[in-house]
Amino acid sequence: MNPKDPSFPDFLPRSSRRRWLRGAISAAAAPALLDMTTPAARAAGEGAPPVRAGFSQDENRVRLYTAGLSRPVKMIFAADTHLSRDDARGDAYREFSARMAGGYQRTKHFKSGKETNPEVCFEETLEVVRREKADFLVLGGDIFSFPSEAAIEWVMARLGTLEVPWLYTAGNHDWHYEGMEGSSAALRSKWIAERLLPLYGGRDPMNAVFEMAGVKVLLIDNSTYEISPEQLAFFRREAATGNPMILCVHIPLHAPGRSVGFGCGHPEWGAATDKNHRIERRPIWPERHSAVTMDFHREVFASPHLLGIFAGHIHRLSTDVLHGVPQVVAGANATGAHLVVEVLPRETPETPPSKQPPGD
Ligand SMILES: [Fe+2]
Repeated sequence: MNPKDPSFPDFLPRSSRRRWLRGAISAAAAPALLDMTTPAARAAGEGAPPVRAGFSQDENRVRLYTAGLSRPVKMIFAADTHLSRDDARGDAYREFSARMAGGYQRTKHFKSGKETNPEVCFEETLEVVRREKADFLVLGGDIFSFPSEAAIEWVMARLGTLEVPWLYTAGNHDWHYEGMEGSSAALRSKWIAERLLPLYGGRDPMNAVFEMAGVKVLLIDNSTYEISPEQLAFFRREAATGNPMILCVHIPLHAPGRSVGFGCGHPEWGAATDKNHRIERRPIWPERHSAVTMDFHREVFASPHLLGIFAGHIHRLSTDVLHGVPQVVAGANATGAHLVVEVLPRETPETPPSKQPPGD
């Protein structure tokens, strides 16, 4: 990587740039290895086989290798379907829903390029869950363009046909009626309670954990871009258990060179960089992130047990590796895009896995 590369983080001072460059190269060359520079990693990692024992990706198919897994685990991750079906119950909310209701009526399929639409794409994704024999589905937010009762009922009816569990965390549009009075946190609480609650299947909407074959799947709602003290405490508790973990969030975590759209923990996130508050008719972001959000970002990427992070919001497939932790952002499910994530057993980086996944 060249320091003259436009993606190089020019906000870093020269000494930090050198350190960042070394980190980026080592992460790219050996993402399987633990970053042993953190006390937590040293404490957890000494003498034990690395929890992160390999990462590979072919387009939207991701493989994570780890020790201490009783069997392979497969997850389908989908975000940003932007469903907007509505009926007479939505009449009272038209002034708040009209702009988003007009978007995403017709989309181009992420693979074929043919014209399609979000409802067709959502049903197609449920077919992927069946065809791949996935263990569970994660819906990573912005499944809706606004909290329409008709759209939520439509999704619940279709999820009811799945034979495997689904997990859901909200995106910033799921609970947002544009121009409605109130803070983002208050409106999120209101519309989760009044509309979105059935999607959570009884789990805590702010943070939840789902365990399968020894892997913990953490869902943390960062759809206001910020992390609460309770969510940080939740992450610390789960990280201390030592299980391999996957973290699912709606808004990607800050990664060097990325815009404030990767806005959870981005050092430049705040009122000065909030370009969309007028068009989305919502409160402007606070001046900067809370200390808790910045601590969360730091601790997530220092966690020796975290296999990977999966997010949406950006509508474009991308992968970053920071301190050996990969973060994969899914393309928009409004176009049919989704991720197939396989967690596979592997004892050490030197021992080849006994069973490679079948080729396409
Ligand atoms: Fe979003």
